[in-house]
Amino acid sequence: MINVQKLTKYYGERAAISDISFDVHTGEILGFLGPNGAGKTTTMRILAGFMPADKGTAKVAGFDVMTQSLEARRNVGYLPEMVPLYPDITVADYLDFMARLRGVSGKRKAARTAEVMEVCHIRDVADKHIGKLSKGYKQRVGLAQALIHDPKVLILDEPTTGLDPKQINETRQTIKRLGGDHTVILSTHILPEVSMTCNRVVIISEGKVAAVDTPENLTRRLTGSERIEMEIRGQKGSVTNCLRAVDGVVGVEINEQNGRQRYLVECKSGVDIRAQLAAAVVRGNFELLQLNTVGMSLEEIFLKLTTKEDVAA
Ligand SMILES: Nc1ncnc2c1ncn2[C@@H]1O[C@H](COP(=O)(O)OP(=O)(O)OP(=O)(O)O)[C@@H](O)[C@H]1O
Ligand SMILES: [Mg+2]
Repeated sequence: MINVQKLTKYYGERAAISDISFDVHTGEILGFLGPNGAGKTTTMRILAGFMPADKGTAKVAGFDVMTQSLEARRNVGYLPEMVPLYPDITVADYLDFMARLRGVSGKRKAARTAEVMEVCHIRDVADKHIGKLSKGYKQRVGLAQALIHDPKVLILDEPTTGLDPKQINETRQTIKRLGGDHTVILSTHILPEVSMTCNRVVIISEGKVAAVDTPENLTRRLTGSERIEMEIRGQKGSVTNCLRAVDGVVGVEINEQNGRQRYLVECKSGVDIRAQLAAAVVRGNFELLQLNTVGMSLEEIFLKLTTKEDVAA
């Protein structure tokens, strides 16, 4: 449904994004995750037909956003970072205006307006002036205008920024419901948002794609297999040697807390050696008190992928 190939955009001499490529399948919700200035908004503006790229191609619903801009835009609903709302008109009038602007008229216009008001929970503020709405309601109106022409594709630039936890939750539910019928790209800084809402994630950093995968696979990929945490009673050096001797162990780290020894065992990817580890501990006459696998949080992955080594040094 969306196909992006080697998209590059310069601001002056500097490339805001370079060689960005990814696909979004029909009905999928794709998370666009990256730190400030990574190039999320730039990519989304190009996809929404608001700005041309300097190199590369982007297709939405089969239409090239540059050479078939009108057709592409007809298939895209765009919620910009800053929604341009008119403060002096009512929500109903605004949606009416946006509908006409997008070529929706007559009976269909009335039906679409009613539908988006329902989906975005804004029926109760239909006659209020936009300027008097709270931030959360303004955001809902922004989403409603993106949906008014019933586009196949939704591009949502940080749809939950600035909302309170209850509204964040509601917006996520709305987006999840929209997925399936729609193909959605949403950008966010909020990492749990991606795990909760998205089928796949594109992580971008400094204008380049750092990773594309499901939230689950990203975790697995970066952790190799899982790391295993073990609490063992016994002489530290001997326990460490015993664990290191197990086939598949890459490294062992001791973490001592309140007299309890925890060992973080890094294993080779794709092998599950929990049973071998437990057996080795028992053979060595140590006491195994606990054994857990620990995944890496999306936050850790994000930092690992987007933080340069020399920043940490
Ligand atoms: N109009 C502009 N003129 C010059 N440089 C720009 C312009 N807009 C964006 N940039 C630069 O392009 C890069 C990418 O910006 P972009 O807004 O796409 O990032 P982002 O990932 O959306 O960041 P944020 O999370 O802060 O919204 C940044 O380095 C930014 O400074
Ligand atoms: Mg942005």
